[in-house]
Amino acid sequence: MAAVEHLYFHIPFCPKLCPYCSFYVEVGSANKTTRFLDALLREVELATTTHDVQPRTIYFGGGTPSALSEAQLEYLLGGLRNRLDLSQLEEWDFEANPATVRAPKARLLHSLGVTRLSLGVQSWDDALLQTLGRVHSAAQAEETFHVLREAGFGNLNIDLMFAVPGQSVAQWEATLSKTIALQPEHVSSYCLTYEEDTDYFRRLTGGEFRQDDDRDVAFFETTMQVLPAAGWAQYEISNYARAGRESRHNQAYWRGADYLGFGPSAFSTRGLHRWQNIPDTAEYSRRILETGTAGSFEEHLTPAQRRGETLAFAMRTSQGVAAGELTPWQDEMREFQELGLLAEQDGRFRLTQRGKLMADSVAEAFV
Ligand SMILES: C[S@@+](CC[C@H](N)C(=O)[O-])C[C@H]1O[C@@H](n2cnc3c(N)ncnc32)[C@H](O)[C@@H]1O
Ligand code: SF4
Repeated sequence: MAAVEHLYFHIPFCPKLCPYCSFYVEVGSANKTTRFLDALLREVELATTTHDVQPRTIYFGGGTPSALSEAQLEYLLGGLRNRLDLSQLEEWDFEANPATVRAPKARLLHSLGVTRLSLGVQSWDDALLQTLGRVHSAAQAEETFHVLREAGFGNLNIDLMFAVPGQSVAQWEATLSKTIALQPEHVSSYCLTYEEDTDYFRRLTGGEFRQDDDRDVAFFETTMQVLPAAGWAQYEISNYARAGRESRHNQAYWRGADYLGFGPSAFSTRGLHRWQNIPDTAEYSRRILETGTAGSFEEHLTPAQRRGETLAFAMRTSQGVAAGELTPWQDEMREFQELGLLAEQDGRFRLTQRGKLMADSVAEAFV
């Protein structure tokens, strides 16, 4: 089996729980301990004895990796540098909440080898940030963006969310303009999803919030018009980048590459085997340190399932899928073409502008 080239680390700590978020996170510092960092490092050590690991991308997500203190980051990232061969590393991503990074931490991350910072701005409108329950203001997010630049980061992503309750398309346009003015290398623009088991979902089902497909389409269309016109190409439904600044880590997922995930709730996929760590930080640490494994779920995919999944992801990207790979789905492809959702060009199928608005329905055909 080829070496695993893509590693994900789940750092579950957040300053506050955002009411729309369904990632596995915990608030407070009870488990933000050296014991947890030791568990992560131990899990990596064990993985390198089981798998051939030669990282080309590393992604620190969460949660909020930037919630770790400088001493903890030095311990963890320094510890990884000692345990992994990073000679082939092309990208080291790190997610940050604007409230949790000041100049010393930014400089430290840069010096430890992080190459790409992803800043969770969500909106440049203070009223909407309040609606989203964010712990930072727009001004604080802007200051953090400049702090990251000054620390030497030449590859920055800004995360934004649209279709937020109370948000108008004009507000969204203003947020896009402000983002463009800052000239990040990459923008991730997500349509708010009402995830089950979140406060937002309860408020939706309780009638306080309302979903409006037509309004969502207006936000999507505005984004797809404004960002590409300003020089950020839409290379995946929710992701826009300057030429050559696409996220290599995410592109690897969308290509169907194998990856190893470390930390509570993290998934790994190796060939047809997929497993997930237990989504409980204290239990994760205990089990890794005492038994060496912390799996809570595993499945064995069929080759057809794995291929279908990969094609569903690939179809969301601007590269689309080679026609030859779609032979088992010929009838569906013809139907999507007739509906104007897919177009064939140069032997590849890609979503049309209309298809991008219905990407999930197209992807469903494969899974
Ligand atoms: C795992 S979060 C990490 C970022 C960091 N914790 C923060 O919030 O600043 C990654 C991104 O997912 C997006 N996100 C989280 N929950 C979402 C939801 N329910 N709908 C759409 N986007 C969401 C946000 O844009 C967020 O910045
Ligand atoms: S959106 Fe980010 S900061 Fe908010 S709870 Fe989710 S992971 Fe934490």
